[in-house]
Amino acid sequence: MAEAVFVLTGAGVSAESGLGTFRDAGGLWRRFDPMRLATPEAFARDPAEVLAFYDLRRRGVVAAQPNAAHRALAEAQARLAARGGRLFLCTQNVDDLHERAGAEAVHMHGELLKTRCQACGGIHAQHGDLGVDEPCPACGRAGGLRPDVVWFGEMPKHLDRIDEALRGSDLFVAIGTSGSVYPAAGYVAEARALGLRTCELNLEPSDNAHLFDLVRYGPASEIVQEFFR
Ligand code: OAD
Repeated sequence: MAEAVFVLTGAGVSAESGLGTFRDAGGLWRRFDPMRLATPEAFARDPAEVLAFYDLRRRGVVAAQPNAAHRALAEAQARLAARGGRLFLCTQNVDDLHERAGAEAVHMHGELLKTRCQACGGIHAQHGDLGVDEPCPACGRAGGLRPDVVWFGEMPKHLDRIDEALRGSDLFVAIGTSGSVYPAAGYVAEARALGLRTCELNLEPSDNAHLFDLVRYGPASEIVQEFFR
């Protein structure tokens, strides 16, 4: 295995933990309109509706457990670190299942179990439902807290760190992502241009499947373990 691995995960890695994906049959964005629920404009127009949507999703995350794919990634990260390499784990997921499996992950689309205060910028843990008038634990302002997730039209987080990690890697592995949301969807092309080997682990070919040197298809709980064994 290469010593510097960049892993990009998407909703497919948490699907077997019971958390829905976005674009598969029955996926979240097939049942709900993201423009009504996942934009800053939607939050300004109807904060109660947006918060209620995220309350439901947060309850799902709190009730879910990491699966074999999360655990295999955590083990691979520890193993590589122990022999002087590294596995940089970049996730588009807003759940905390990578962390609960023991991995360190960079959440480019934010984290559902955190809130951000629009007044002071403070970020705080949030495991229960979030009320519209809940005061910020830091500045005390009521009505300014939002889920610390990236909405459509907003800039993903940690882009500099991610770019640096990609540049320092030998192998790029995309797991459980459809390759339809940028900038993450563009990382495989960037990786190729940088000379990294590229690998896709997914239930079925993604939109970017033709850009990967190696592809493995099946449930993440099986193929991730096999790949990182
Ligand atoms: P998608 O729902 O677009 O894609 C999920 C991918 O996981 C698909 O390619 C499925 O084939 C695959 N999949 C499903 N079940 C799987 C399993 N058991 N094992 C392996 N693969 C499986 O989700 P993402 O690509 O993560 O952004 O979506 C990217 C972003 O779009 C999300 O982070 C979210 C969404 O809008 C924001 O909310 C900003």
